[in-house]
Amino acid sequence: MKFFIDTANLAEIKEAYDLGVLDGVTTNPSLMAKEGISGKNNILKHYVDICNIVDGDVSAEVIATDFEGMIREGQELADLHENIVVKVPMIAEGVKAIKYFSNQGIRTNCTLVFSVGQALIAAKAGASYVSPFLGRLDDISTDSLQLISDMRLVYDNYMFETEILAASVRHPMHIVECAKIGADVATCPLGSIKALLNHPLTDSGLAKFLSDYQKTNS
Ligand code: E4P
Repeated sequence: MKFFIDTANLAEIKEAYDLGVLDGVTTNPSLMAKEGISGKNNILKHYVDICNIVDGDVSAEVIATDFEGMIREGQELADLHENIVVKVPMIAEGVKAIKYFSNQGIRTNCTLVFSVGQALIAAKAGASYVSPFLGRLDDISTDSLQLISDMRLVYDNYMFETEILAASVRHPMHIVECAKIGADVATCPLGSIKALLNHPLTDSGLAKFLSDYQKTNS
């Protein structure tokens, strides 16, 4: 399973990349705003800065909600760097834009996906990635992992090449469960990636090894 980091914070992206397990980055307008990045030129520059840290796909989201606007913005984003993936919302105009970009060889990430029907439409339109939002489904008492499971079944039934990019990840077990089901990618906050490293028996085991070494080597 590929690991993406879900942030626009350059320091966090660098930390995850330096760990050696990072395959890409996802951003969204809320994450850009959280970093205080505003104004078209600053936003475009920030995407380039991210691409210069990570050797992997970087999702950059369009703001327009009409077909022509999405095409214009998406083309501009795709021209920034070869690793940019144009992130497009799951709305009818977005589906048309995904189809257009697919025909042009521009890769897309269909975002704000909450049902198998939406995932099926996005795949048929030729999305490179489809992003089901786990945490936001869990928040409304809906089984988000069942959605990942159902998407895996449907995509495998028809051999869709669209990759399942589990998003809105809130904790390390989301990542583990997605890996068990067979999601292609999980995009995660840095804290959830780092939490996967931890186990109390690792900590106590290492402390014992080091103290035993000190006893005979000091
Ligand atoms: C990533 O592509 C999504 O925009 C992101 O994971 C949404 O996460 P949230 O539900 O925590 O805002």
